[in-house]
Amino acid sequence: MRRTVALAFSGGLDTSVCVKWLQEKYDAEVVTVTLDLGQRDDMDEIEKRSRQIGARNHYTIDAKEEFIHDYVFPSIKANALYEGKYPLSTALGRPLIGKKLVEVAEKEGADAVAHGCTGKGNDQVRIDVTVRAMNPSLQVIAPVREWNMSRDEEIAYAQERGLPVKPSKSIFSVDQNIWGRSVESGPLENPGTEPPEDAFEWTASPEEAPDEPRYLELGFQEGVPARVDGKAMDPLELVSYVNEVAGAHGVGRIDHIEDRLVGIKSREVYECPAASVVIDAHRDLEKLVLTRHELDFKAHVEREWAWLVYSGLWLEPLRPALDRFIAATQHRVTGSVKVKLYKGTSRVVGRSSDYSIYDIGLSTYGRGSTFDQKSAVGFIELWGLQSRVASGLSSQAEEKEKNGHQGTKAKEAQ
Ligand code: ARG
Repeated sequence: MRRTVALAFSGGLDTSVCVKWLQEKYDAEVVTVTLDLGQRDDMDEIEKRSRQIGARNHYTIDAKEEFIHDYVFPSIKANALYEGKYPLSTALGRPLIGKKLVEVAEKEGADAVAHGCTGKGNDQVRIDVTVRAMNPSLQVIAPVREWNMSRDEEIAYAQERGLPVKPSKSIFSVDQNIWGRSVESGPLENPGTEPPEDAFEWTASPEEAPDEPRYLELGFQEGVPARVDGKAMDPLELVSYVNEVAGAHGVGRIDHIEDRLVGIKSREVYECPAASVVIDAHRDLEKLVLTRHELDFKAHVEREWAWLVYSGLWLEPLRPALDRFIAATQHRVTGSVKVKLYKGTSRVVGRSSDYSIYDIGLSTYGRGSTFDQKSAVGFIELWGLQSRVASGLSSQAEEKEKNGHQGTKAKEAQ
């Protein structure tokens, strides 16, 4: 009996060639798996292509809800931005792809899974690590890492075997899901040049965006967005809607010099309208309701969370442990944030919450302040205590050193 391999299949040139290559090189039957993560592809077309190329079976898995609930929502609570900029859209999707590959492999009696990642990126790590953690008996095959074909050679390989692939005309390498669109290669590889307008698909050029600002009122419930402009929306609807509206105002373009896990620095361009707006708003609301100490400590946790997810360690036990800390901070992150979208910018211009720690009685410079200014004097006395003692000591030391020098000079002069 021939062996079976479950292949993550996008329908593009690489993974189409993978199907044939796995059949020929590994004498395998191939089962293809395509996840719908909201990437706006034609799923029927992808299935058709898989069958034409000769896959034994094909799975289209609608994983949008699971993706948002179990991956995107935790990332919002964690304000997750890798290196302060990248909302991890691609990175969050990979462990879910790995998980579904394992499920299909087990169902189909496969002894291996395969994917179309190259050997230069993060995605191979994310999928390989997930698959091996979930089922160590599965082999992971990454044909693109092995076959050493140039793009032209791949096209020739496909043509010789009559594969129904249309090499895409795009000069960019793109990955997308509901949380964002990653664009690489082509002219973007020169970090010194501005991304050309055709690199973008989800966002209007800020110059072309409407002249009227658009206000969005985002309602959060325990750390996740639940309402827009007062209207309750389910998560998928909400994220799609914010992508749409913010994108139309040119919001969400990210130009990032990124440190890949494998050590390469790369220039990455992203379009993440909803992610940019929602994370910014969420962080702002946290500032209203969490204490200074919670915010300080959470910032460390957020950095670690983003790093684990970026670097493919979704299944590392530290990640759910951090999630439990984060969850404990989110009960009060309920309230509403007003965001102003205008020609490529998104600015929080108002926020409110029943759990607000902001007390106008304390902060006001106007009449009726409840803050007793006299108590500041004693506080400052103690707050500066160590600085005062230390700076007294260092003046004494300087004095001594000066005298010492003069002493030496006097000796030399003798
Ligand atoms: N640099 C990003 C990441 O590591 C995006 C990767 C995009 N992947 C792709 N196959 N084009 O998450």
